[in-house]
Amino acid sequence: MRIAMIGTGYVGLVSGACFSEFGVDTVCVDKDQSKIERLKRGEIPIYEPGLDDLVAKNAKAGRLSFTTDLAEGVRGADAVFIAVGTPSRRGDGHADLSYVYAAAEEIARALDPDSYTVIVTKSTVPVGTGREVARIVRRTRPEADFDVCSNPEFLREGSAIGDFLRPDRVVIGTDSDRARAVMRGLYRPLYLIETPIVMTSLETAELIKYAANTFLATKITFINEIADLCERVGADVHDVAKGIGLDGRIGKKFLHPGPGYGGSCFPKDTLALVRTAADAGSPLRIVETVVDVNDRRKKAMADRVVAACGGSVEGRRIGVLGVTFKPNTDDMRDAPSLDIIPALQAAGAAVHAFDPAGMHEAARMLPDVTWCPDAYAALDGADCAVIITEWNEFRALDLRRVREVMKAPVMVDLRNVYTAEDMEMAGFDYHSIGRPS
Ligand code: UGA
Repeated sequence: MRIAMIGTGYVGLVSGACFSEFGVDTVCVDKDQSKIERLKRGEIPIYEPGLDDLVAKNAKAGRLSFTTDLAEGVRGADAVFIAVGTPSRRGDGHADLSYVYAAAEEIARALDPDSYTVIVTKSTVPVGTGREVARIVRRTRPEADFDVCSNPEFLREGSAIGDFLRPDRVVIGTDSDRARAVMRGLYRPLYLIETPIVMTSLETAELIKYAANTFLATKITFINEIADLCERVGADVHDVAKGIGLDGRIGKKFLHPGPGYGGSCFPKDTLALVRTAADAGSPLRIVETVVDVNDRRKKAMADRVVAACGGSVEGRRIGVLGVTFKPNTDDMRDAPSLDIIPALQAAGAAVHAFDPAGMHEAARMLPDVTWCPDAYAALDGADCAVIITEWNEFRALDLRRVREVMKAPVMVDLRNVYTAEDMEMAGFDYHSIGRPS
């Protein structure tokens, strides 16, 4: 089988590489000439563990190729995937679908006149987008033989390849039996490992994606508020999470408290679903509240640092460990650090920081930070250490050395990487989230 993947961003590149790993002849298409040139040389534009090897292996085997020529990619393809960006539209929080619709029109023009093609939306798109894609294609090429399918992706950055090759489920939304048969063919290796394949209508598949992300964001926000309550009443949020998570109806995952969810998906998708629901006259009040609580939480994290420093950070040096929205990525989109660091600077602090992968991107967004070569350099002379992202290397710091280099042994651990016992033994004034201190 053969597919074209339009868009070599996160979802497109990972999905394209993984389909080629399934044995599908895959052409990845992008308008960005320099990106395609780099990919042809085997250079991967994003940080994703294992992706470079997967791309190299399948490119070498001749199953994975890259081009800027969309028509070349679409020619002879059984399915064409739209995996272009859907950023939040400035001002109103709706998803901006202009790239999706432009791709649909270009695909339509390039469709083979005498073969059947499934056009698949892989990007996260609001309910109704698939129907609009079908309308655009039909308008552009009334005689074309095609169907539209929604096949949302549930990849997490940092573990995207495992998530694609061994998913909890695959969602395929289309009204056409022919399209279903093509999609089944593409996902054939997953049938062998008995992955549940959820077949639905277009609209249902589109909504599943938003409902999944919104539910997970709600779960995180719920445990974050419970964490705040724990601090007030002397309870331990991790024991609460364990105690409720062992109930199979609740589930153990996504109950880790922190500085609020970030990234390229949850903030954008929760907001977009709120807007869709309001427009449909069926407001999602829970999700509206989640968005609001999470925004406030990210901002409020700086107050914890100020409190740990005795009420003021004026003239103090703060050593920050981790700035990406989560570990194993260089992605800074909607990272809590983007709220916390400027708030500390506005309160008069000098921020020195280290992140294993995100500093290049972060330096553009946080220009007044002193970027350091490692964790100890970031903490050198600091009045307070703040862990914002739980990179593994911050879990195994030499605490004696940390104490020696810091001016004052104060630590605010926004990811609960350490325990109060360990930190007290190491001589720190330690502050974490939702645990008795
Ligand atoms: C998320 C979903 O997990 C994927 O299933 C989905 O495919 C993806 O969005 C998407 O729509 O493309 P991702 O944004 O890569 O994936 O990252 P997550 O691992 O879900 O983390 C999101 C945020 O929640 C991070 O800021 C993380 O620190 C935070 N989080 C996560 C918590 O604060 N606590 C938790 O228990 C889990």
